Amino acid sequence: MLRIEDLQVKIGDREVLKHIDLEIREGETHILFGPNGSGKTTLLMTIMGYPQYTVTAGKIFFKGEDITYMPIYERARLGIGMSFQRPPTIHGLKTRQMVRICAKKEVDVENLAAKVNFEEFLERDINAGFSGGEIKRSELLQLMAQEADLLLFDAMLNRTGPKSRCVRRGPGWGSSSPIRGSFWIT
Ligand SMILES: Nc1ncnc2c1ncn2[C@@H]1O[C@H](COP(=O)(O)OP(=O)(O)OP(=O)(O)O)[C@@H](O)[C@H]1O
Ligand SMILES: [Mg+2]
Repeated sequence: MLRIEDLQVKIGDREVLKHIDLEIREGETHILFGPNGSGKTTLLMTIMGYPQYTVTAGKIFFKGEDITYMPIYERARLGIGMSFQRPPTIHGLKTRQMVRICAKKEVDVENLAAKVNFEEFLERDINAGFSGGEIKRSELLQLMAQEADLLLFDAMLNRTGPKSRCVRRGPGWGSSSPIRGSFWIT
């Protein structure tokens, strides 16, 4: 469902990725390890389509479609979802509201939050004072609401803790949509 061919990416003048090839088929889980600063987050951000990451060569295909220069919101609509290493705190926006915004369709927020032990955080501003692991669970909850087909996890394996082992097994990702592919970086 995701295919990357000979990708090259710059941030400003700096070349960060060179000759990257990757294929993730439906139902597959891929995990990428690498030293700090090697470009893992850059790869995920480029797949998601953040404009500060300039593709200077190569192509990215998702579900057979060339998405190399597609804007983020169209990639999200096509079914790519991402958890961030450092998502922003947004004062005045409750976690519950954020989950509703992310949701593909009408969603039972309580029920979804229970799957990642997150009910008690729903009335708190998103990410405000959350611990590292709590931020990750909040990200996971938003992804579950989005029901994406391809999930991109940045530094999720190291912060989710024993209570969220279900993350790795795959919790009930919404009612109808099983995970169809995932890509984890550490
Ligand atoms: N906006 C930016 N401006 C300049 N350099 C940047 C920018 N963003 C990232 N870089 C550099 O690009 C390189 C790759 O960064 P990236 O965040 O992709 O690494 P990473 O593999 O995810 O590292 P970590 O394991 O620490 O999360 C790093 O050297 C980083 O400093
Ligand atoms: Mg990183």
